[in-house]
Amino acid sequence: MDKEPVFQKVYEYLDNRIKRGDWKEHEKIPSVRKLGEELGVHRLTVLKAYQRLKEQHKLYVKDKSGYFVHPGASYSFSDMDDPIVTSFIYKSHLSEIHRIPVKYQFSYSLIDPNLLPNHYFSEHMKEVFDLNPKVLSTYSTIQGDNDVREALAQYFNKKYQFHLAADDLLITSGSQQAIDILSRIFIQRGDVVLMERPTYSAAIDIFRQQGAKIVTIDIHPYGYDLNQVEAFMKNYKPRIFYMNPTFHNPTGYTVPTNQRKELVDLAEKYKCFLLEDDPFNDIYFHDLPPKPLFSYDTSGYVLYIRSFSKYIAPGLRIAVLCTRPSIMKHVITVKSLTDNGTPLLNQKMFLHYFSSARLQQHIEKLRIALHIRKEIMEEELATTNWNWISPNGGLNLWIQLPDTLEMETLLATSLDHSISFVPGSICDPTKDTKSWIRLSYSYIKEQMIREGIQKLLVLSNQIENR
Ligand SMILES: Cc1ncc(COP(=O)(O)O)c(C=O)c1O
Repeated sequence: MDKEPVFQKVYEYLDNRIKRGDWKEHEKIPSVRKLGEELGVHRLTVLKAYQRLKEQHKLYVKDKSGYFVHPGASYSFSDMDDPIVTSFIYKSHLSEIHRIPVKYQFSYSLIDPNLLPNHYFSEHMKEVFDLNPKVLSTYSTIQGDNDVREALAQYFNKKYQFHLAADDLLITSGSQQAIDILSRIFIQRGDVVLMERPTYSAAIDIFRQQGAKIVTIDIHPYGYDLNQVEAFMKNYKPRIFYMNPTFHNPTGYTVPTNQRKELVDLAEKYKCFLLEDDPFNDIYFHDLPPKPLFSYDTSGYVLYIRSFSKYIAPGLRIAVLCTRPSIMKHVITVKSLTDNGTPLLNQKMFLHYFSSARLQQHIEKLRIALHIRKEIMEEELATTNWNWISPNGGLNLWIQLPDTLEMETLLATSLDHSISFVPGSICDPTKDTKSWIRLSYSYIKEQMIREGIQKLLVLSNQIENR
């Protein structure tokens, strides 16, 4: 990345500042000499960048008195897009649905607490204190406990051939924090972020809050349309493509191996970072999923996030972000501003479990339990004309309702009868996904799944026959 010519860097720097509106329309920008001095680059390089921007009608020259910002060169924001306004009015619709207490909980994409290793943690708490007597009297390092990073690096290297050293990892308080840290580093107001449609709704909220313009790529059971990905990277010059390519939330789809290598090549070609969010990789029902995109990356354009909330302990808030040293230094700075390090006790508890033989047995049992729950939900839905692709892993069914059934009506009626699910529109940055819903099979017990789906179908029939 550092091989990028100085001219290109100066040009992109100026282009971004103009887009962001750092200088107003018709405002004079700094002279070539002044900017050259400020940036520590040759005047001719700055001049070349100014001329390129002039050719692109982003700057104009007036009476030899300098360069001025062309009208229309900066992004214009509608009220809804304006991060300053939206920071007050933007609501997380998902957390609103989760706040409603219901008996049949199909909206949580979380694992039933009864399936998680609660006993292990309570039995071994004392041991963790014996091994680390000062665990609560010290801060963790900002990057995260060295033993934890070492253990995770070895695990990733062995399992996926990642070639990581412990210093290429940073422990975050959940993967949501990792997404937030990266968005603060990469995204300035007006920058473009590519996102799958549908996608993980909290990521939409994070990028919006940062002022990003979101462009969507549809995710299909076979992956993406790579021609479209390339065209979007070329035309919109996104900073980041946020993706969840393995047992994707909400669809359960997995991007196939052949596309993974090509995506990494495209990322390098168009200098667009791929943010690979991978919390469900271990939750497969049949075959192992393809290797993460990160294992194909040789140039540092893939940023890898793995959360352990889904199958170890959401309450520990442990996730890890893997990246190359040039990015890591910025990640450490932002993490230090955010919380100065993830609590050491949580990291040590995690490590104790992660290094134990119990982990493998637990995951194997968990996969079977989730597979059974998925099949029960599918069995109950089998009599309907609802459409879905049966997922090979993950926690959700992504379902298309028939035209005769209005999703908003079904949601309102279901909530009245203590049943919740996620409306597809929440997972769509464009809000166009109107007839889809996400039903999670991971949170409630088998019998409750049966009962809840049967009740949901009675309600849906009533709505259709009104
Ligand atoms: C795709 C995806 N990323 C990130 C998260 C958040 O994980 P964490 O609990 O580690 O913040 C979720 C949770 O549902 C998710 O589905």
